[in-house]
Formats: sequence, structure tokens, C-alpha cells
Amino acid sequence: MKVDGKPWRPIWLEDDGWSVGIIDQTRLPFAFVSARLSSEAEAVQAIRAMLVRGAPLIGATAAYGMALAMRADASDANLAGAYQRLFETRPTAINLGWALDDMRRRLAPLAPGEREAAAYARAAEIVEQDVEINRRIGAHGLELIRAIADRKPGPVNILTHCNAGWLATCDWGTATAPIYQAHDAGIAVHVWVDETRPRNQGSHLTAWELHNHGVPHTVIVDNAGGHLMQRGQVDICFTGTDRTTATGDVCNKIGTYLKALAARDNGVPFYVCLPSPTIDWSLRDGVGEIPIEERSAAEVTEVTGIAPDGAVVRTRVVSPGSPAANPAFDVTPARLVTGLVTERGVAEASEAGLLGLFPERKTA
Ligand code: MRU
Repeated sequence: MKVDGKPWRPIWLEDDGWSVGIIDQTRLPFAFVSARLSSEAEAVQAIRAMLVRGAPLIGATAAYGMALAMRADASDANLAGAYQRLFETRPTAINLGWALDDMRRRLAPLAPGEREAAAYARAAEIVEQDVEINRRIGAHGLELIRAIADRKPGPVNILTHCNAGWLATCDWGTATAPIYQAHDAGIAVHVWVDETRPRNQGSHLTAWELHNHGVPHTVIVDNAGGHLMQRGQVDICFTGTDRTTATGDVCNKIGTYLKALAARDNGVPFYVCLPSPTIDWSLRDGVGEIPIEERSAAEVTEVTGIAPDGAVVRTRVVSPGSPAANPAFDVTPARLVTGLVTERGVAEASEAGLLGLFPERKTA
């Protein structure tokens, strides 16, 4: 997508042909700066410290992390070590394990001398595959927006949570792909952007993206969504997901579940957009089985903002001495999800729905 009229992706191979460029998302929206990853250790740190984040982008960065590791040392021991170090960066997004499994499966049978080139080639494919998947998700989701636009006057009001935008993927985003495609097709849309405390991926990243693409939007506090739904001011919800079970339970940024509850109570359709690598076919019970990342309490007790003098500052917002807890994701049961928007179409959030689109996953 474009920033100041220039096309950008959140990850790219640098002109030197081996180091990896990323947008440092911890600096947005106050500064737009890139960073260069020149080792596996830097890829590990970029994922852990959330310079890159969002399930598909975490997977793509891990793939390039493997390539950087193979460039330094393509031995069996380093293949196993790099896999483990990258795998341990964040626990919830399944795309991380998916990308690492894919890389290991392709690299392990090769001679060490062949691994570096193969790793770079596969990492680039994973990136391009994600871009195409998201473009298709956008095309399917666009039809849901168009159907609403065809039957009501004024803009289609869409609520989204966290950042499942192009910054969270290799381009387009998942939840934002239908929005960008609807906007580009001339359909009037307006997006309610949940700020998404504690890290503010909504107010920092989704708002920045939508502003740069010229999509009308309004940032709201996380607690406002239910009120807006009661007043008929939300036509449809689109969110992303970090891991979806074979039965259609959806794990996403903390607070997603409450939005789905409010949507159900108010008859607002709640769609989750996901590329197929986000489906964990081995799990059936999202609440019981998906590991939920617990992050630092400092993310709750402090916020980052910009002072009147332009300095970016971190400020305490919680009474000193009070402890804070920071579960980073929650699970929305399949029964609250209207549909799953995938690259192959829209499925009912159920095992039958997913297998209908991915019949190759049926076991005998
Ligand atoms: O903690 P984050 O910022 O990595 O969480 C991101 C999300 O929860 C996204 O909604 C999810 O990864 C889907 S991204 C297309």
C-alpha cells in the first residue's frame, strides 16, 4: 500500500540481496522509519520487541530469519537452533510455527551448501503468497460490503479491532483488504477503529494506514463499540486472527471477544478474515488449547504519546503501586462468528464450513 504516494510493504529484501528491510512499527505513527535485519538474532529481536507484529508478518519475518541463519551457518545444528530460537519469540500466532515448519521441511533434506539460496527463495515465496492470499480475501470481503452498500444509503460503517492491516501482513492486510478494495471500488465506507489498548495497534497503526490511503475513519475507545452497535452505527465488523481452530474458534487481540458478544446481541454481522496458514488444524477447542501470550504489565501501566514539543514520551497512566495484568489475546467461540473470510471464499465458522473450502484437510 502507499505511504505519501509511494508503494511500501512492511518487509523486503534489501538491494544487497541478503539483508532484510522492515518498517519499525514501534515508532509509528510518530515516526516512519525502517530498520535493517542482518542476522537471525536481529530477526528474533524484531519479532519479540514487536518491530514487526501481526500473524502473517511474524511468519514472513521468521522465514527470512531462517534465511539469515543459513547465510551465517547452514549446519544441521544451526537449522535446529534457529528454528527453536525463532519459534520461542511469540506463542500465539500459528503463522510463526507454520512458516518455520515449512522452511525446515524444505531445508533439512538439502546439503548445507544449498540451504542459504533455498531459504531466501522460499522466504520470498511466502511473502508473495501472503500478498496474493490477502488480495483474494479482500475480493471476497468486498462482496459483503457491497451487499450492505446496495441496500442502505450513506457509507457502510465497519468496525475493526487491533491492526489486521497491511502492516500486519505482507500487503493489503486481512481485515482491511475488503475495506481498501471497497474504497478503491468507489463504495463509501467509514471505519470505526478500536484504539486497542494496551499497545494501541488501532489508534497507532490502523488509523495511520487508513489515513494514508484516504479511507474515512474514526478512532474510538475500546469500550465504545457496543454503544455504537446499539445505535445502529455499525453495519459490519471485520477482524483478523492469530490462530483459528479446525472448528472455527478464533483467537485474536484481547477485546475481540467482547466485540463479538456485542455484535451478536445487536444483530451486527461479525466476520473474521484469515489466510489459511492461520488455521491450526490440530486444535478443536480454542479456549482450552490456544496458548495466550502474557505480556509485560508496563504495557498497561504506561502509554506512548507525542508531547506538544514533538518529543515522543512514555507516560504512566495507572496509580503507582497497583499491579497490572496483560493477557494479549482472547478467544471468540465459533458460535459468535458470522463467517470466516478466507482466500477461497467465505466459510461458516465450523469444522464443516472450513472443510468445505479446504477439502484436502479431510482425514479418512
Ligand atoms: O500483538 P499483535 O499486534 O501481533 O496482534 C495482532 C493481531 O491480533 C492481529 O489482529 C492478527 O495478528 C491478525 S493480522 C492480519
